[in-house]
Amino acid sequence: MKVKAPLVERIKGHIRGNPISFHVPGHKGGGHFLDTGAMGWDRLLQYDLTELPGLDNLHCPQGAIEKAQRLAATAYGVEGTYFLVNGSTAGIIASLLAATRPGDTVLVDRDCHLSVYNGLMLGRLKPLYIQRPVDQATGIPLSINPREVERTLGRDKGVKAVMITNPTYYGVCSDIKTIANTAHRNGALLIVDEAHGAHLKFADVLPDSAVDLGADMVIQSAHKTLPAMTQGSWLHINGGRANRRRLERMLGILQTTSPSYPIMASLDNARYIMENTGARRLEEVLGFARDARLEINALDNGLFCPDSEYFRARGSFHFDDTKMLINCAQAGLTGSRLDQLLRERCGVYGELYDTVNWLGVVTVASRRQDLERLVEGCAGINPDPAGDRATLPAFCQGPVPDAGMEPWEVLNRSCVSVELARVQGRIAGTGVVPYPPGIPLVCPGERFNSEIIAQIREYISHGITVKGVKDGRVEVVE
Ligand SMILES: Cc1ncc(COP(=O)(O)O)c(C=O)c1O
Repeated sequence: MKVKAPLVERIKGHIRGNPISFHVPGHKGGGHFLDTGAMGWDRLLQYDLTELPGLDNLHCPQGAIEKAQRLAATAYGVEGTYFLVNGSTAGIIASLLAATRPGDTVLVDRDCHLSVYNGLMLGRLKPLYIQRPVDQATGIPLSINPREVERTLGRDKGVKAVMITNPTYYGVCSDIKTIANTAHRNGALLIVDEAHGAHLKFADVLPDSAVDLGADMVIQSAHKTLPAMTQGSWLHINGGRANRRRLERMLGILQTTSPSYPIMASLDNARYIMENTGARRLEEVLGFARDARLEINALDNGLFCPDSEYFRARGSFHFDDTKMLINCAQAGLTGSRLDQLLRERCGVYGELYDTVNWLGVVTVASRRQDLERLVEGCAGINPDPAGDRATLPAFCQGPVPDAGMEPWEVLNRSCVSVELARVQGRIAGTGVVPYPPGIPLVCPGERFNSEIIAQIREYISHGITVKGVKDGRVEVVE
């Protein structure tokens, strides 16, 4: 009989044997947890095992984990897949460290996640940033212009890697195939942070996944868009350019030596489900999303739900229609106010909001009634033309602040906490990052200027969490 999910089967087989645990973890299969009955801890925690005979070892896989990883690689059509138990964060940092040596230059999408910036620091890398045009109506950053990549790589010879986010948190996709060709022609690897795109491979109508477009390493948060547990992610490697041994070394350094079996089993599960029913379910939920969009756009209360057609008409390469993006600027609401109203009135919880947008993620696990509830919530929104309308675009896209020093140099300098009002001209000791979307306004080593200070204040005034700001103070280099 063909094994559906080898790691899941192995763990189930182990549990069936009623084993007596003299090994870690200390809960011994679910004992001594608060409210075990009500929370169902005991069922889940039976799976929370360790490297027992037959259960393989993530750091030198030769059995069930190796098989599960190989099946994932086959499902994605790649040469190798590595399970990540610490989210895409560890995979992104490992890929950067594998592709470079200290002092190397990397071309970085400025819309990158914090983990990329942390990778730059740990790898002592020099970033060159590439910025995206912004859609004025929604404030959403659009696709990367491949010609911009070409120009930068042509001008700055010796760039070792190009790091791109695709899709973005908002669902915007770039022309990865052209960017991959450009990177390779210029001797650079292409690493794609596809944290939000693990599902793309499974639906023909969605933008293609970077695994099919020539990227050398692709990192996906399976937990974001597939039925996998939080932290469950994977890294795919393709082609002969990336140094696989160095990548394995970096993953070995960055990942825990006690990887969670429930997380790894959930990755095995996600691959199996997507391979077998993913395409059909995605088609179905995309239909629910399309209907909901039409209904929201017909409400006449200022809420606007753009789709791939909208973004393509604005020059973007593509957009992932599983993202239910609702722009609320014309309704006179901020994204945080819309989020609050949807939560309070109909129990709908979104994935992210910014000054003028709200975003929900639709996956194979979404149901028609979930989207109907969202439409119902939106129908109850009254426009408020005099309301709390943000003056900012959704994502501040000013010029990159001047660099006072390289990001990694900051790690070795002492920093002090200074009031935001007094930091103009000072060098940032940590990144200042509105969360979501997790894209820095200032990176470590860059100088604060008056525009950036005003933008930070604006985000805070609209209830957006800004990491790196505490009690109105930020860290600067002494
Ligand atoms: C674009 C992007 N990349 C990477 C990450 C990190 O992923 P993970 O939470 O799986 O570590 C995130 C998390 O939100 C993200 O939005």
